[in-house]
Amino acid sequence: MSKENKLEKIVSLAKRRGFIFPGSEIYGGIGGFYDFGPLGAELKFNIKQAWWDAVVKERDDVVGLSAAIIMNPKVWEASGHVSGFSDPLVECKKCRKRFRADETETQKCPECGGELIKARNFNLMFKTFVGPVEGTASVAYLRPETAAGIFMNFKNVVDTMRVKMPFGIAQIGRAFRNEINPKDYVFRTREFEQMELEYFVKPGDDERAFKEWIDKRTTWYEKLGLKNIRKQEQSPEERAHYSKGTVDIEYEFPFGWKEIEGIANRSDFDLKSHSEHSGQDLSYTDKETGEKYLPYVIEPSAGVDRICLAFLCDAYTEEDKRVVLKLHPKLAPYKAAVFPLVANKPELVEKARQIFKELKATGLNIAWDDRGNIGKRYYSQDEIGTPYCITADYQTLEDGTVTIRDRDTAKQERISEREISGHL
Ligand code: GAP
Repeated sequence: MSKENKLEKIVSLAKRRGFIFPGSEIYGGIGGFYDFGPLGAELKFNIKQAWWDAVVKERDDVVGLSAAIIMNPKVWEASGHVSGFSDPLVECKKCRKRFRADETETQKCPECGGELIKARNFNLMFKTFVGPVEGTASVAYLRPETAAGIFMNFKNVVDTMRVKMPFGIAQIGRAFRNEINPKDYVFRTREFEQMELEYFVKPGDDERAFKEWIDKRTTWYEKLGLKNIRKQEQSPEERAHYSKGTVDIEYEFPFGWKEIEGIANRSDFDLKSHSEHSGQDLSYTDKETGEKYLPYVIEPSAGVDRICLAFLCDAYTEEDKRVVLKLHPKLAPYKAAVFPLVANKPELVEKARQIFKELKATGLNIAWDDRGNIGKRYYSQDEIGTPYCITADYQTLEDGTVTIRDRDTAKQERISEREISGHL
């Protein structure tokens, strides 16, 4: 299977099986926007849940936040996004198409071969208007990163949550960038979700925390079974305007090694700039020592959609005649599927239905299938990554045992009905 071919197969599977659909498809779509279908929504939810568990719930030094997408436009002046969040754009003299300058290796248009001219720096923030009057006074922006909402609430959290340095504020939410050239499926889109942590530390403690978070975030991917990842340090030219140092976690996609998460040392850039622009003192006072300082911040920032694609690419396997999505059970949309051996025997259907209901009542997402033959149902569940298939057959009616089939080995064993949830 060639690399291009693999991506095509994943795009096709994702569409056919309800993971990812092109946005506004019945109107011909819209570049850079995708919708996650029923199974994609489950996969995304499971990724976010695993992140929230590791970054917030399992720690006692990180709290969560859910801030508004639209903020006072002054936020983006202070953050440097109004002046600095832009990509250099080139335009073809002949066909007038525009491209990101870093994506055109020659001075020729990739579409028609015409001469390229430098157009201007293009700000990636989406503009909108707040209230019924459209004018410069009512301009606002859709956030290009979720981080700013965290800086806006730094003081609120310090004042209300009795947090002690070092501590973090985490947020999951939508971000919007009017990318010049959205591409590589859901890798670079114009609307996406971010999972961001701003971890505040005393200046001088930043290098330690930076290394710690690089390790923690790498381990998170490894524990969820993601192979083909590496760490890459960004050069000073590559870094964002706020960063003192950035290490990317990259995944080897079919279209090459690409960033899925960046861990940046944002120093005191944001709190300092927001203090200056707002006139509010955002420094932190240590209650025990009385020391007052502007904290530094370490920021692990990950994109849910990109991570989703990385897990799909990593999990996609062709074996003999079957396609298997070898997703980690924690991420799989369904944890198990339940079938009656045949659909035309009411007592079998009733038994399988009872098992299905009992498993669902444990809080697990369980699939039901009674179409076609068992072999087809297995293949169908393999393709969407369901780790186990449970079949109620004639023996189930006699002795209360079922067959349970493992996705990865395709092996079946018989267990008692009572053992199923323990097994899962
Ligand atoms: N607050 C820091 C920040 O936003 P970034 O490297 O620009 O840093 C962080 O973005 C993560 O967000 C990236 O690693 C990527 O996973 C995701 N991301 C950024 N732009 C994206 C886009 N256009 N489409 C999908 N995901 C994107």
